Amino acid sequence: MRNFLSVGDVDNLDKLVETALQYKADPFRDRALGKDKTMGMLFLNPSMRTRLSTQLAAKHLGMESIVFNVGQEGWALEFEDKAIMSGTTVEHVKDAAPILGKYFDILGIRTFPSLQNKDEDYSELYIKQFIKYSNIPVVSLESATLHPLQSLTDIITMKEIMEVKKLNKPKVVLTWAPHVKALPQCVANSFSQWVNFWGEAEFVITHPEDYELSKQFTKGAKVTLDQEEALDGADFVYVKNWSTFTDYGKMYCNDPRWKLNSKKMARTNNAAVMHCLPVRRNVELSDKILDSPSSVVTQQAGNRVWAAQAVLADILRAGQTGQ
Ligand code: CP
Repeated sequence: MRNFLSVGDVDNLDKLVETALQYKADPFRDRALGKDKTMGMLFLNPSMRTRLSTQLAAKHLGMESIVFNVGQEGWALEFEDKAIMSGTTVEHVKDAAPILGKYFDILGIRTFPSLQNKDEDYSELYIKQFIKYSNIPVVSLESATLHPLQSLTDIITMKEIMEVKKLNKPKVVLTWAPHVKALPQCVANSFSQWVNFWGEAEFVITHPEDYELSKQFTKGAKVTLDQEEALDGADFVYVKNWSTFTDYGKMYCNDPRWKLNSKKMARTNNAAVMHCLPVRRNVELSDKILDSPSSVVTQQAGNRVWAAQAVLADILRAGQTGQ
């Protein structure tokens, strides 16, 4: 693996999941792999889980990590080639990224979409410019349209639960949930992309009218506007809000009827409830469900370390072999 932006960068998903679970069992088994290496982690947007889990993952591999909250502490970056920088941006990525490429061995970037311009967001300009100009491997810590470390974690968590519950081809339901503001489609896009690629689940996506996601990620899943029907017999329910994709970045429906409740949960096969966090309690999900044994959100967030460690190890190994 050279860069990690989507499931398309993964050679063998089963092997990556297996590696992550091996790290969970023995975090320091490859403690020398990242010796004398440093990862730079640039955050243009806030984070808790991604930042800390990736730092821990690097530490387990013997690698230093340095965090730069560029969105708060750095110069405002320009990403458009040939821009006339007479506005608010101070430094061009074309100048900044090669320097980061000299400082670090791996670069992690977190950036969110503007939700103003679909074409711009879906072009993934920011992360692609870092790849173009840094000349070192780039790991997405969540980009404008995808959140691959989260999705790998989600697959790892489902694998663990499948093992415990002896599930073969589980029914996995991604359900839209209410929220108070328009959120990116990243987590939902990415989860859809990874579950479809994984191919080990019956995958159903349910959302209110007008909230369809981009088909490039959902292709292969069943999509329905009937949440209750979707939940019938579900083994996993992934709860997430996202803003509209077609009429981009809007919030039409904040309908509390879409909130998961005990009556709806009763339709499932004692489903494990997933959420990437942070979660708005009693808006997206009730205390009752989040604090119940059905919720696996802490297990999920804990697994972020092992997902990141498996990805970093793969990149470090590829560097050793010159792939
Ligand atoms: N799920 C997730 O990415 O959490 P953070 O935003 O805290 O990193």
